[in-house]
Amino acid sequence: MPLSKNLDYEIISIHRDKLPHTIAARTKRVYDVVSGVYPLSTFFFHSRAHKEALRMSGIRDGMRVLEVATGSGEMFQRLVNANQGGETVGLDLSPKMAARTLQHARKSYPAAMTHCHAVDARYLPFRDDTFDAVVCCYLLELLSMDDIKLALREFHRVLRPDGSFTLVLIGQNVGTFNKIYRLAGSVAPAFWGRQVDERVPQWMQSCKFRVTAQREVRQAFYPSRVVTATK
Ligand SMILES: C[S@@+](CC[C@H](N)C(=O)[O-])C[C@H]1O[C@@H](n2cnc3c(N)ncnc32)[C@H](O)[C@@H]1O
Repeated sequence: MPLSKNLDYEIISIHRDKLPHTIAARTKRVYDVVSGVYPLSTFFFHSRAHKEALRMSGIRDGMRVLEVATGSGEMFQRLVNANQGGETVGLDLSPKMAARTLQHARKSYPAAMTHCHAVDARYLPFRDDTFDAVVCCYLLELLSMDDIKLALREFHRVLRPDGSFTLVLIGQNVGTFNKIYRLAGSVAPAFWGRQVDERVPQWMQSCKFRVTAQREVRQAFYPSRVVTATK
């Protein structure tokens, strides 16, 4: 493609994207504020996809597992439960979410090795090839296109060769839901972001992940997509 056409395409896609820049400072504030009530949203909309993601992830006891963007820690509890003899690390941009996640995990599984930190997913403070498995649920909707690719490259970097990556996205396969989500995202972009499900599996491949399975999950009217990949 000639350079000018390439540029046109980039400009058009940036223009169409409802989140041209990651608004991390606002996202951090919003999720800090809602950290106390967020478990309700997980219970009603995310728990079925979490369960399926754990099943598809291939995570076994004794692994080094990283969960990126733990939220209030419901998936983290599942991961620690499955990995009580291993090491489970969580991170979230919101310090309150990270603190809450760690507090609950240590209360439920005092003997398990668990750590949680307030960290931005775009810059992971771990060496290359550190983890056997990386899990990330409902984060990419909140990052700009460039930052999604940055974060995916970071997930790939910290995962060991042949390690497993499990991603949960908000599904884009229900028309009415998409309309409601677009409206919600335009009112509160720092909380809702925008849907990216249709584009991400392709970006995963361009970040050198090998996509191994994809599954759609519905909980009430809320659609999710679980994608698994290996490094
Ligand atoms: C929609 S919630 C999902 C929470 C949880 N993963 C779940 O499945 O319920 C998004 C989470 O991503 C966190 N987050 C947003 N931007 C982030 C970033 N750049 N790095 C790390 N976490 C981020 C938010 O603080 C929030 O807890």
